[in-house]
Amino acid sequence: MSDTVLNPSPSSAPSSAPPSGAVKAPMVRRMMFAVALAAIAGLMFGLDVGVISGALGFIRDEFHATDFEQSWIVSSMMFGAAVGAVGAGRMSYAFGRRRSLIFSAFLFVAGGLVCALASSVSELIIGRAMLGLAIGIGSFVAPLYISEVSDISRRGSLVSMYQLMITLGILLAFVSNAILSYSGSWRWMLGIMAIPGTFFLIGSFFLPDSPRWLMLRGRHDEALSIMKELRHNPELAHQEIRDIQGQIHDRQRGLAMFLENRNFRRAVLLGIALQVMQQLTGINVVMYYAPRIFQEVGFGSSGQIWGTAIVGVVNWLATFIAIAFADNWGRRPMLITGFAIMSAGLAVLATIMSGAAGNTDLSHYLAISVLLCFIAGFAFSAGPLVWVLCSEIMPLQGRDFGITCSTVTNWVTNMVVGATFLGLLTTLGASHTFWLYAGLNALFIFMVLFFVPETKGVSLESIETKLNQGVTLRNIGR
Ligand code: BGC
Repeated sequence: MSDTVLNPSPSSAPSSAPPSGAVKAPMVRRMMFAVALAAIAGLMFGLDVGVISGALGFIRDEFHATDFEQSWIVSSMMFGAAVGAVGAGRMSYAFGRRRSLIFSAFLFVAGGLVCALASSVSELIIGRAMLGLAIGIGSFVAPLYISEVSDISRRGSLVSMYQLMITLGILLAFVSNAILSYSGSWRWMLGIMAIPGTFFLIGSFFLPDSPRWLMLRGRHDEALSIMKELRHNPELAHQEIRDIQGQIHDRQRGLAMFLENRNFRRAVLLGIALQVMQQLTGINVVMYYAPRIFQEVGFGSSGQIWGTAIVGVVNWLATFIAIAFADNWGRRPMLITGFAIMSAGLAVLATIMSGAAGNTDLSHYLAISVLLCFIAGFAFSAGPLVWVLCSEIMPLQGRDFGITCSTVTNWVTNMVVGATFLGLLTTLGASHTFWLYAGLNALFIFMVLFFVPETKGVSLESIETKLNQGVTLRNIGR
């Protein structure tokens, strides 16, 4: 992707593309280490999102947890993540990206152990909230850190690696769930997460501080010496430090700008709407409750757990489609196609769940096929592109504030979806619940048609200029 990133950093999503055809600078080992280690935060994020679907059934049986309690075991993580995302901006400014990552890694390990050793539902909820806090901080700081230490010629692809690591984490968790499901050891499912977490924790002590953060704190000499370690050429390091120096004069503005500037408000509200749409596709219903969905369709226990693992594979693979095509095909066509596929897939699933197709092998295979189409539809469209668009539409001066608002919205809506799904199944029934999500996805096609700009190949400066001229949101891109 050119000037776009997947799941981008709040403040330093690149403001302009590296010149096309620019020669890529040789990768310095120190930079690779920093990027790879920070990307483990994405892996941890994915692992913790993915693990609960496999563990939930066993937890329910051991603690006789009600639907309400199960919903909170799932959703306390999103609550923690929303709180973490709200606080992460200030924390990473005050204490630095590196220390924030160390804190997040510590919470990953501690939260994983609290969950694995929990002796009651409330302890589990506390452990999940700690993991959520870790995810909320990590999902803000890690992409930010990666974009600040990587060189401009690779920044887009290195940050997009973070989103790929999330989907890889989900996949690995689904596979580990499948393997551990035979023994029913949900404590191992949750506890095993502490292993990569410990890796992440130890490694993060060796991370260099972000030069950009050091500059923000006025520590110029340290910033320059770290930048020299991260770049193959000292002249390049000096140049980047000079560029940062030039940029940091533009102080970030937030709430005041939101209240007084109508155009900034429009961008923030579009970001919020995009994240609400992403979550109301119902993606996390599948991520958290996939085995339960397979059970509703009529699969036995091993079918449920392996079906879920295949969901993880498709989610991971289809993310590559977004990386390959978003800059050629464009955001709007990909989003519209994605929502159409998701809507149609869920409508067929709802029909199968109504019993109209009977409980046959054929209906089982049809159910799994449409669910996989739904996942693929999400993974190449709303999954990554909503994050991309949220960074593209925010004016530079308000980017921290704007992206914090949309990221928190993502987690809050995520929590609402996670907390209401089992209740919806009980009150509306499976078929009507999926009709509801199918309808929402159909509605989002129109939302994209009317409100979402095409930002492919358009510079962020041009988007900002049109936004400030009061051009309708749909036309601030091309
Ligand atoms: C969403 C997450 C979701 C993940 C699935 C992300 O873009 O924000 O809520 O779990 O995709 O891959």
